[in-house]
Amino acid sequence: MKVANISEVSGDRLKAVEVERETYLLVAHEGEFYALEHRCPHLGLSMKKGKVEGDCLVCPWHGSRFSIPTGENVDWVNSFVGMPLPKWSHKMIALGKQPQPIKSVKLERQGEELHWPKNVGASG
Ligand code: FES
Repeated sequence: MKVANISEVSGDRLKAVEVERETYLLVAHEGEFYALEHRCPHLGLSMKKGKVEGDCLVCPWHGSRFSIPTGENVDWVNSFVGMPLPKWSHKMIALGKQPQPIKSVKLERQGEELHWPKNVGASG
C-alpha cells in the first residue's frame, strides 16, 4: 500500500499520513524512511508538531524522545512545551506514566514511492 511519494518526506519535516485509520508521521533518516506512531505514550497527545533531532523524534509537549529507527524511548518527560524543566520535577510531570516506546515501521521503496510493508499491521 502506497503511503507517500519520496519527494514529500524530508529529514526535518514530519508528514502525517493515515494508514488503516491510524495516523503516522513519516520521517527520512539516514537514507531510509520510517512511519512513526503519532500519539505520544505519555499523555496520548499528537506529535505532529514534534521535531526531528539527530536520531530522535521529540514530543512537542514534554520533550520525550523516541528513536526513529526503533521507536524506543530514549528520554522521558523533561520539558514543558519546549522549556526545560528541573530534574526534580520530571516525575511530577510524568504523572505516574512509565517510559514506553512508539511504533516505528521501516517503509519500502518502490521507485519514487514509499509503501507500507505487507507483513506489518498498522494498528496496535
Ligand atoms: S505528551 Fe509527549 S511527552 Fe508528554
